[in-house]
Amino acid sequence: MLHRRELLKQSGLVIPLWLAGGLIPGRNAFAADSPDMIVHGRVPHNSETRLNRLIESWITPNDLFYVRSHAPVPQIDASQFRLTVEGEVKKPLSISLAELREGFAQRSVVATLTCAGNRRNEHSAVKEVSGVQWQAGAIGNAKWSGVTLADVLNKAGLKEGAKHVWFEGLDQIERSGGVIPFGASIPLEKAMSEHGAMPGTLVATGMNGQPLPPDHGFPVRTVVPGFIGARSVKWLGKIIVSDRPSPNHYVATAYRLVEESTPESWAAASILYDYPLNSVTCLPSQGAQLKPGPVTVAGFALAPANAGQTVRRVEVSADGGQTWSHAEFSSPAIPFCWRLWSVKIGIDRGTTELVVRATDSSGEVQAEKVPWNLKGYMFNAWHHTKVSVS
Ligand code: MTE
Repeated sequence: MLHRRELLKQSGLVIPLWLAGGLIPGRNAFAADSPDMIVHGRVPHNSETRLNRLIESWITPNDLFYVRSHAPVPQIDASQFRLTVEGEVKKPLSISLAELREGFAQRSVVATLTCAGNRRNEHSAVKEVSGVQWQAGAIGNAKWSGVTLADVLNKAGLKEGAKHVWFEGLDQIERSGGVIPFGASIPLEKAMSEHGAMPGTLVATGMNGQPLPPDHGFPVRTVVPGFIGARSVKWLGKIIVSDRPSPNHYVATAYRLVEESTPESWAAASILYDYPLNSVTCLPSQGAQLKPGPVTVAGFALAPANAGQTVRRVEVSADGGQTWSHAEFSSPAIPFCWRLWSVKIGIDRGTTELVVRATDSSGEVQAEKVPWNLKGYMFNAWHHTKVSVS
């Protein structure tokens, strides 16, 4: 068996120091400097995967996985680290990394993580939206390992009033003249659920067989399969069980759908949990110059999985949606995981764009258009790829 540091070396990671010393650097240099990423910001680090690299494998390698951070990576001494569990529990806990590894059953899940702001640039094309202008690469599929949130909560023992589980990160985000941690919360039933062999929520320490990289939450994060990425809190420090959703800014205000900035709209806006049905063409690239004849079109599709749905069908059109060709899948239909697809389609000199749409196993079809919203979340209309054919 390979030593952990040897594995890291072979996978191209150049920062084994944080493993040796327990201290992590301020940012994950390799991903930000990679030509395979579109970098939107270095500190805090925000980058997405270039679409041609994104669909090279069903499991997204760690160094190609998008990063969405609201503050610099916090410095965490792994040897001193404790995860605390408090609130509506019978026995508050303070758990070290060793206890997390040795005191609980180790589980893993393959799940797709995607940012609610993925494809925000398409909302912005209608009317400008502030925030990171994500194209379509703020998504990735990884094998996460760790312990189930249900096991942690069962160890603490839930009180009657337990209805929501809050997560608090150890990062420090500057907001309105103060500093806050990134926070999320999920309904208790999601926290305690199992979907077949898959836990509803994982308290993860590993990503694709390696310790979580610093940018992805080392040493501990939550992974909430099926929910927008914002509910999977990195650098997890605190779990609080409550009778209500978290008052943290990223639950109380951000990550809600509002169409106009009025007090009524904000009051009516519900908390975003599940990500929507989506599909994206990754090849050919936007603006590709093609020859008339058959062309291979390929990409990914993702279905919401709250009721076990998977992606059933992906169709591509070269004539604006009048006729559609069915794509073939190169990956299985597994809830909470994207499916990679491809199709050979004929194009001619009149072709100006390729359009893709997906259908899930409940029969829901991706809509041609979606309403604009103030924060540019959840864009999931048909995906258009402009091409020129000559
Ligand atoms: N957790 C903390 N502590 N701080 C953050 O800024 N960003 C969230 C979530 N968890 C965030 C966080 C958002 S918006 C997303 S989309 C995912 O992490 C991104 O996870 P990744 O960077 O590992 O891809």
